[in-house]
Amino acid sequence: MNILILGGGGREHAFCWKLSKSKFITNIFIAPGNAGTSELGKNLDISVNDFLAIKDEVIKNKIDIVLVGPEDPLVNGIHDFFLSDKIINSVPVIGPTKKAAMLEGSKDFAKKFMERNSIPTAKHATFDKKTVKEGHKFLDTLKSPYVLKADGLAAGKGVLIIDDLAQAKEELTEMLVGGKFGLASGKVVVEEFLKGIELSCFVIADGKSYLTLPMAKDYKRIGEGDTGLNTGGMGAVSPVPFVDESFSNKIDKEIIKPTIEGLFRDKIDFVGFIFIGLIKVQDSPYVIEYNVRMGDPETQVVLPRIKNDFGEILLSISSKKISEIKLEIEDKFATTICAVSDGYPESYQKGKKIIGINKVQDSKVFHAGTSSKGMNIFTSGGRVLAITSLEDRFKDSVKKSYEELKKINFDGINYRKDIGFDL
Ligand code: AMP
Ligand code: GLY
Repeated sequence: MNILILGGGGREHAFCWKLSKSKFITNIFIAPGNAGTSELGKNLDISVNDFLAIKDEVIKNKIDIVLVGPEDPLVNGIHDFFLSDKIINSVPVIGPTKKAAMLEGSKDFAKKFMERNSIPTAKHATFDKKTVKEGHKFLDTLKSPYVLKADGLAAGKGVLIIDDLAQAKEELTEMLVGGKFGLASGKVVVEEFLKGIELSCFVIADGKSYLTLPMAKDYKRIGEGDTGLNTGGMGAVSPVPFVDESFSNKIDKEIIKPTIEGLFRDKIDFVGFIFIGLIKVQDSPYVIEYNVRMGDPETQVVLPRIKNDFGEILLSISSKKISEIKLEIEDKFATTICAVSDGYPESYQKGKKIIGINKVQDSKVFHAGTSSKGMNIFTSGGRVLAITSLEDRFKDSVKKSYEELKKINFDGINYRKDIGFDL
């Protein structure tokens, strides 16, 4: 079977690596991929949002299944595009339709879904440019800090957390009337700040049944001690030490089951990954957000712990037989640490030569923003590499990733020095 993976980050390299071990997969194609994926398959120089070019490649390379990494093409309707095309409509796309992808593509849609299905989340209300005043009044009813969320996709930058009430009101006006995030902030969700510890939960749905994958904890801020700007993620660990059986059962009963049942009730045929961003407040889980894809860098710690053939899992999603898969999880601890370009998540330089990857022996180096020229590998993005270690003891997995990461270097390399330390 030939597979096409859409995306070019660490998550997609991890997909590629896991699928390269599958007995169901013959050839792997990745669009656009990175230097890491090019060692395991064929990179195609096309954008994840160029649906016509993707169709051409699917036909040319006799692709049997498409796995979508990032949210953009899903929110833009790639699944629907395939379904509506006579030539490629029999090729399964792992990733939800445009309607289902609104769980990530619209914060307001996600909140309404949670309300309908009594899924715990922060107290909230949605406003548009006609209801700015009401928005200000709603802010008056909340306590500091205030959370403002652009409704649509804003490249991970659309959430503002503000301490001062007057400033929160000003920002709300700026988002709704001043076009701060363009179309994405035509509507804004204002919500109560929840204080707790975050974790990520992953579910595979095939439209009929579902499977829960190992959970992970991501480190989102750029600086040690969770300080500084938000990033795509600076590191991750799996399993999450503070999730015991009783809390895990709560997540299943209060969050996952109502989510799946809600999708059925709404007649949303969800095929793909649901990534539920949770926050543990005292002993209760609340949903912070839904994503309709796997997390990055969470995939780099979740996949190494799954013993099953990942190709078989993908096939079972497309044939709606996920209930027949018995997930086997490695009873070990995975830690990944992201090496990023100096300046990330703001502006940074590209094209720096990376040395030392071949010296890493005991960890897996997943490429993110990399490209190759001849025998050399260069940086080409903000997040450059993710170094994953799988060990019997949690502490050892953290230690190993740091030891191995020290063998790698490029001009302006930066990484968080405290991944896993809080646990
Ligand atoms: P989101 O894009 O909705 O995941 O928000 C980005 C980040 O903002 C989350 O990962 C949280 O760290 C933080 N955040 C979002 N909503 C809340 C909330 N209601 N209370 C506390 N932190 C939040
Ligand atoms: N690491 C968070 C995300 O993938 O959205």
